[in-house]
Formats: sequence, structure tokens, C-alpha cells
Amino acid sequence: MKTERILVTGGTGYIGSHTVVELQQAGYPVVIIDNLSNSDSAVLDGIERITGIRPDFVEADCTDIEALKALFAKYPDIKGIINFAASKAVGESMEKPILYYRNNLNTLMNLLELMAPNHVKGIVFSSSCTVYGEPDVNPVTEQSPIKKATSPYGNTKQISEEIITDVINAGAPFKSIILRYFNPVGAHPSAEIGELPNGVPQNLIPYLTQAAMGIRKELSVFGNDYNTPDGSCIRDYINVVDLAKAHVIAVERMLQDKSEDKIEIFNLGTGNGVSVLELINAFEHATGVKVPHKIVGRRAGDIEKVWANPEHANNVLGWKAESDIEDTMRSAWAWQCRLRERGIM
Ligand code: UD1
Repeated sequence: MKTERILVTGGTGYIGSHTVVELQQAGYPVVIIDNLSNSDSAVLDGIERITGIRPDFVEADCTDIEALKALFAKYPDIKGIINFAASKAVGESMEKPILYYRNNLNTLMNLLELMAPNHVKGIVFSSSCTVYGEPDVNPVTEQSPIKKATSPYGNTKQISEEIITDVINAGAPFKSIILRYFNPVGAHPSAEIGELPNGVPQNLIPYLTQAAMGIRKELSVFGNDYNTPDGSCIRDYINVVDLAKAHVIAVERMLQDKSEDKIEIFNLGTGNGVSVLELINAFEHATGVKVPHKIVGRRAGDIEKVWANPEHANNVLGWKAESDIEDTMRSAWAWQCRLRERGIM
């Protein structure tokens, strides 16, 4: 076991839980802080079944700086932070902008403020390809222009990147790696953890698997009149376990001072653009299960096409998204079947 503990905020959430598994398997002691606003403490059981280790868990809100101070006092061995704790629904952010700004920005500022006094060496921040908006050219590199955010959610990611940059440029004694995720999908191959949205899913894959299970009548495909080969939108769907592994590499890079740079930014994607209709086909081919679906109108605010150039992460981090899309679809389906077995969905 390593001695440097990693604080994972939002660690019972979708990407957070997969990252905790990879951290533990790499030998890192972990402590999770999560307010369980969009996750369940049963996720800790899933993590324990996979790794044999139950991560330490503090149920608290990262906007509560006193709770964070108490956590650092209890765990003086925290040397790295991975910050997943954030609200992430675009539509909700339009209705409740203050909730999004307060939650996402205060969490980040509290963490940044407490890093130096607690001798934390680095923070990994979950950003998003949403910062590129509708790109003029695909694939996007880290140098592609940042477009004005079209939602408070997207704006919190841009502002967060700027806050981190300002704090580091002001001489803060720690490093940061900003990871811009494309579209994380799939579940752990054990089907012990996966994506579990509250209520009606907004994202494609949980809706798709619930439609395939018969929980939803049919998947609505939002538009087939885009300027793409089959008319549906194109995204870069990245397996969540591949994504989780990048976080272990990033945190290790900061703890071991492998880079001269105090702040680094990486796109995390596969480099392949896949349309909604192609993804439905891949799911059906991989699982043999049909996805009832119909074409409906465009969803307001959707991006037509965006996919990553992941070469910077490939070359500098030595990380590559390796999973096959059909394997990823099988993992998403196995997770949906597990939820059914457990009577959850
Ligand atoms: C969305 C956000 C993105 C955010 C991410 C976090 C927008 C424009 N973007 O990404 O900023 O980081 O969620 O979760 O909201 N689709 C359907 N039917 C559905 C659901 C989705 O056809 O029922 C299509 C969408 O039109 C899109 C693709 O599936 O083309 C992926 O959608 P989704 O999973 O919501 O992700 P993004 O829109 O890429």
C-alpha cells in the first residue's frame, strides 16, 4: 500500500466510483467525500466487492469548508485531490443557475484554499469538452478555441479552469491537471458499479439501456437532419474505466513531480466520432437486444459534432482509450441487468 492518500470528492458518483476502484487497485489509500445528492452509499459496497477494500467515506458537502477542514485534520496523509464533486445537468443549470455556480465554484475554491495549509501536492479537475462548444474543426486539440458557454453548467467548467489557472499563476505551492472529458459511457466489467442517474435519464446511454429494458417506452433520437453522414449528432464516447485510469496517471504525475509544468490540460477521448444511430447499432450488435427508438426533433442547445484529438494525452501521459465500443456497450447492458436483478431499476 502506498502512503500518499488521495481525496476523491464526488467519489460515490459515476466517474468517481470507477476512479476509486482504479486508485485502490494501484495501491492508493482513498478517502471519499460526497453529499450523496446524486449517488447512493451502496456504491461503497460495489467498490468493496471489486477491490476487497472499503474506501473511507465522509458524508458531507464540499461547499461546507468546516467539514473539509475537519476531513483534512482527520486525514493528514492526503497528498492529492481528484475533484469530481459537481452538479452536471445542463437543463437543470438553466433553471437553477445559482445552485450550479455555488455548488461547482465554492467546492473548487474551498479545496484550493485548503491545499497549501494541508501540504497537498496536486489537484485533478474534471472539466469537459463542453468548453469547445460547437467546434469549427474536428477533432479538437487542447489549443482549439474555447467558445462562450451556452449554459451555467458549461460556464462553471470554464470559470473553474480560469480559477485554477489564476491560483497557480499567483504562486500556489501545488500543481493541477485539468482533464477535459468527452462522453463517458459504460460500466465496470464486474457490473458492480455503473451509472445510476436520479429520475428520467438525460444522457444517451442510461436512457438507451432503460429503453432496451422496457423501463422507458422508446429512446428519442434528437434529430436526423444534422450535417453528419447519417444525420444524427456525433460524439466521442469513452469507456468510463479507461477514463478512470487516466486519473491515476494524472495524480501520480503530480505526486511524483514528473512534469515541470504546474498546470496541464488534457483531452480524454478516443479520437473516434460516433453518431447516435451508430451507437444504437453498436449496442444492438454487441448485446443482441433491440433498442426501441424513434427520430424526434433536435434538442435545444445540442452540439452537432465534436470528437477529440487525444494525442497529447497519448504522448505525454502514456494513456490511451483502449476499450472497444461493443465491449463498452456490453458493460452498460450488464450493469442495467444487474440493477434489474437487484430490483433497483
Ligand atoms: C451533455 C452536455 C455536456 C455535459 C454532459 C454531461 C449538452 C449540449 N451537453 O453532453 O455539456 O458535459 O452532457 O453529462 O447538453 N441523445 C438522444 N436521445 C436522448 C439523449 C441524448 O438522441 O435521449 C443524443 C444527444 O442529442 C447527443 C448524444 O445523444 O447527440 C449524447 O447526449 P448526452 O449523453 O446528453 O451528452 P452530450 O449532449 O454530449
